[in-house]
Amino acid sequence: HAVKVFAPATVTNVSCGFDIMGFALRQPGDVVVLRRSGQAGLTIKKIQGHANSIPFEASKNTAGKAVLSMMKALNLKAGFEMEIYKQMAVGTGLGSSAASAVAAVWALNRFLTRPLSREQLLPFALEGEKLTSGNHVHADNVAACLYGGFVVIRSVAPVEALAIDYPHALHCAILHPKIEIKTADMRNILRQHVPLNDAIQQWGNIAGLVIGLQKGDFELISRSLNDVIIEPIRGKIIPGYQQARQAALQAGALGSGISGSGPSLFALTTSLESARQCGQAMAEVYQKLGLDFDLYLSPV
Ligand code: HSE
Repeated sequence: HAVKVFAPATVTNVSCGFDIMGFALRQPGDVVVLRRSGQAGLTIKKIQGHANSIPFEASKNTAGKAVLSMMKALNLKAGFEMEIYKQMAVGTGLGSSAASAVAAVWALNRFLTRPLSREQLLPFALEGEKLTSGNHVHADNVAACLYGGFVVIRSVAPVEALAIDYPHALHCAILHPKIEIKTADMRNILRQHVPLNDAIQQWGNIAGLVIGLQKGDFELISRSLNDVIIEPIRGKIIPGYQQARQAALQAGALGSGISGSGPSLFALTTSLESARQCGQAMAEVYQKLGLDFDLYLSPV
């Protein structure tokens, strides 16, 4: 029999929480199908959708690597084959590689009638994600994708992710400008040292955001959705970023910023209707600039 699993896109950083905060959307996302194979090991049979330059070799593929590391740890001798359906392109800032890795480990776990908890699955998904993040391992996308809702990454090595409560009125508009941006490049431009005053503002905002989410205090959430360290640098690379962010805030967003390493932008709102209005406001900016984009609306 075959197991079919969907794993969603994720918004990470959430402005102030670089590498340590993220939340999952309901859509878009990737789908992985896993079934038994007569051949030992793991074979990737099919990659469809936004499949550009995604390797078929299991050990070089984020979903493949994640499953291989889990098979090794569990000492599984059986062979498996996998199909990957990518609804998101790589390099959108929506955690495409993480979604495939999470869908893959979830599929294998279902196959084994779920012997592992999500906490136990996380390191395997992270093994897959490491293929794309190189030297800078970040667990924000995989953890948000695997847990759903909002998460905080307290530590990467050893990895520890914490789910946090949030008001379920939250919705999100995502505008994905169709330009290619590499996460590695977007990390290399960052400063390696942060002035103490910036750090103080940033961790104040992170704490405020977590408390705001847990209390359902929208004004506190809104005040806390500010980044004085990363977005000022990355924002310069994304055309239309400042204008679109301002447009979303004007249209009533609680906050707006770069999703992951970009180029996608997010606007966090308190209803689907508000997300639609903020999405529309951001879209108008890009239409005026003559730049192509996709727009997604989703509950959080
Ligand atoms: N937190 C990571 C970054 C996410 O901003 O580089 C990359 O998708």
